[in-house]
Amino acid sequence: MDKPMVSADFFVIKALEDGVQVIGLTRGNDTRFHHSEKLDKGETMIAQFTEHTSAVKVRGKALIQTSHGEIENN
Ligand code: TRP
Repeated sequence: MDKPMVSADFFVIKALEDGVQVIGLTRGNDTRFHHSEKLDKGETMIAQFTEHTSAVKVRGKALIQTSHGEIENN
């Protein structure tokens, strides 16, 4: 197993409505959902890409901040 990517960049997701879903997708050949987090308005999640998580899908109105910039998801 690779070393944990503890120093990987963080990204921030702030829910702008109730019921925003942050879904983690697995790294590797098999791309599937492995975690779903529900955020209500005003809740913020701070997370990293890891050896388990290569992609994140966000559903709902949220402000997403990454080192690549800021996105408002609707
Ligand atoms: N156990 C997951 C991991 O280490 C936790 C996690 C990290 C996660 N980043 C995420 C879950 C982003 C959902 C979305 O990969």
